Amino acid sequence: MPKPVHISKRIKNFKKKISVSGDKSLSIRFALLASQAIGRSRAYNLLKSEDVLNALKCLRKLGVKVELKKKYCEIIGNGVNSFTYKNNLTINAGNSGTLGRLILSLLIKSPKKIKLIGDKSLSRRDFSRIIKPLQEFGATFYPKNKNTLPIYIQGSKFIRPINYFENKGSAQCKSSVMLAALNAPGKTTIKAKKSRNHTEIIFKNLKIPIKIKKEKKFDFIEIQGGENFKSFNYNIPSDISSGAFFIVLTLLSKNSRLIIKNVNVNPTRIGIIKILKKMGAKIFFKNKKVYKGEKIADILVKSTGSLKSINCPVKLNSSAIDEFLLIFLIAAKSKGISYFKNLSELNQKESPRLKLGSKILNTMGVKTVLTNHSIKIYGQPNLTLNNNYEIKNYLKDHRIFMMSAIAALTLGGNWKIHNPESIKTSFPSFLKMLKSLGAQIK
Ligand code: S3P
Repeated sequence: MPKPVHISKRIKNFKKKISVSGDKSLSIRFALLASQAIGRSRAYNLLKSEDVLNALKCLRKLGVKVELKKKYCEIIGNGVNSFTYKNNLTINAGNSGTLGRLILSLLIKSPKKIKLIGDKSLSRRDFSRIIKPLQEFGATFYPKNKNTLPIYIQGSKFIRPINYFENKGSAQCKSSVMLAALNAPGKTTIKAKKSRNHTEIIFKNLKIPIKIKKEKKFDFIEIQGGENFKSFNYNIPSDISSGAFFIVLTLLSKNSRLIIKNVNVNPTRIGIIKILKKMGAKIFFKNKKVYKGEKIADILVKSTGSLKSINCPVKLNSSAIDEFLLIFLIAAKSKGISYFKNLSELNQKESPRLKLGSKILNTMGVKTVLTNHSIKIYGQPNLTLNNNYEIKNYLKDHRIFMMSAIAALTLGGNWKIHNPESIKTSFPSFLKMLKSLGAQIK
């Protein structure tokens, strides 16, 4: 059992430039789409975390040639629905909801049965949200009416396009249907509540026939399936969801300043920046550019002493979905009562984050009012901690671990935080990077 980490000193002021690792959503999408392309695709700066390595492992088991070098990852695809594997093969998505939900879509036309498993956290997460549309395309799942992993999928040669309504604001659900549509000759249509749009952008780059009409609350997507597409190269920008820990670290530290270089600031991902700016945070984008349809910038962030509460607009939820633990931490240190609602999806993540986030704040002496879908946080601008705090993290949620470390380094107290190994999921260099800014972590 890996040992917990101990933090009992606040980080001293720092002024630095850092680069965080590659974007997880883009890394997984690169791997899955490259496996369906024809030819040799290369990604530079691919995130080498367990979620992505598990994607590569799954693809290898499915007969795809994958080479992982220090500088790049190369995948040789043979086209849509070209996997080769034995009946009853087992593939493991580990901790990754994105991998688990998206890889099933690539298997709907393949008649051999395959078993998908995941770790303890993934095995409690809902898969019915993608099983239903994939069944509509024509795939079969065993056992019938099961909503969680492990599960068997059996594809069918007779895949038909579908009309799908995505009403959770889930990019995983939307992307799962988009990838499945590659197997379905004809027109698949999707009406989707706004969510991250990386899959749409990559489809356009790959010249996969896609039409998108954007309205205020929904996007209308049309995909013409059944055709192959060519291999591609991709320079993966840095992950804002990893950068976010350092943004909050800087905001809550004194007299500090940080530049995080070359971050993907796609508007569907920067909810945290919009929310924190409304709360008074000093965050700026520098050196803005566009790469293959994705917005990229260096993020400059400065310590901000006086932050104020927020009644968080629901329309920002999806674009901040992986950052709410950090936003709650900021709310705990802000003036006034913050309110976040329509967030039941947070309890569907690697752990029930709405519930556990609230519990961590309570452990710190911060009052919250929690429901199944909302939280009120009674901020304390002078919050400083002096006691002992232990974070158990029974589902080994990487973001619970990292949020706790940021709380410990900025608010004081003696912290024992379990399961540091969880960072391997999304951000293996997290602790090393904190130490490079002067953090003392044992
Ligand atoms: C992801 C989408 C989000 C997010 C997850 C990654 C993706 O999930 O929480 O970490 O890459 O599409 P939902 O789309 O289910 O909210």
